[in-house]
Amino acid sequence: MNLKTAFEPYFKIGAAISRKNLCTCSNTALLLEQFDSFTCENDMKPSFFLDEEANLAAPEKYDLSPALTFEYARPYLDFAKANGIAMRGHTLIWHNQTPKWFFCKEYDENKGLADRDTMLSRMESYIKGVLELVGAEYPGIIYAWDVVNEAVDDGEFRKSVWTETIGEDFFVKAFEFARKYAEEGTQLFYNDYETAQKKKRDFIIANVLKPLKERGLIDGMGMQSHMLMDHPNPASFRVAIEMYASLGLKINVTELDIHNTDPGEESMNALAKRYKEIFAILVGAKKSGRADITSVTFWNLLDEDSWLTAFRKETSYPLLFWKDCEPKPAYYAVLEAAEEI
Ligand code: GLA
Repeated sequence: MNLKTAFEPYFKIGAAISRKNLCTCSNTALLLEQFDSFTCENDMKPSFFLDEEANLAAPEKYDLSPALTFEYARPYLDFAKANGIAMRGHTLIWHNQTPKWFFCKEYDENKGLADRDTMLSRMESYIKGVLELVGAEYPGIIYAWDVVNEAVDDGEFRKSVWTETIGEDFFVKAFEFARKYAEEGTQLFYNDYETAQKKKRDFIIANVLKPLKERGLIDGMGMQSHMLMDHPNPASFRVAIEMYASLGLKINVTELDIHNTDPGEESMNALAKRYKEIFAILVGAKKSGRADITSVTFWNLLDEDSWLTAFRKETSYPLLFWKDCEPKPAYYAVLEAAEEI
């Protein structure tokens, strides 16, 4: 048995992949054996699509239509195409991992921020460039795009360079452009973290999802789901899934991991139990028709790849596979959840 076969009746199952994973045979073998979807961990973020050298060398030429490069994204797209594995696109518009110069007059950080119209042109041109290239050369590979990542901070719109230049409607514009240029059938997602927290959940529903849904611009809600052993509690996770789904949106769990610093047997068994509980909720919601969950992605493949170790400044063992690609107790627990529920 493997993960993709076990979850085939319910949803796609994926992992975030780094450059190192992509050029390590044992890692790509594991990905293809276990998963039927993947996300590029970093190389398809704005800072990798925006061609810094070209834009900074000829700002007058590229002022309203930034030069792009596909050098970083292509290896992942080529891999997906060659191996017949689906991808989530992550992420078009984000306040992080987007260079400061992109928001400035004449791409010059000494000249202050560009105005709304300039930034709308740059945003449209960038989204058009990425989506048209992918649609033309890699048709049918990317089934879902995270159009906007993390526009909400706690219970309000996040103040960022996007809101400073375009304004609070920047996310609506991003979805309008994405809908205009995305290949027919590509699903458009809003993606965020702490999406089970009541205050944030309610704000996202009222101020992001409903307005986008009313305009026919959004297909799904992306719940990142970077978890701790005791947070969020399973009930609030289940309720949030059902509330987002009740808007008529698909649900993707986009960045699942559970921070855990103890690789000992007891602790890894506790991690397995927690994963089983989470997957029981996901499979249960899908089976009962309470939520159209279409994809669940782990944020990284192996424990040693996890971003959590650097982020939390302590070694984390949050995933299903040890660094030698061997399955952990959590792997078997997740499989059991697919079979038992
Ligand atoms: C957020 C982003 C991801 C990734 C993680 C940490 O959740 O959406 O792309 O950067 O942070 O690695």
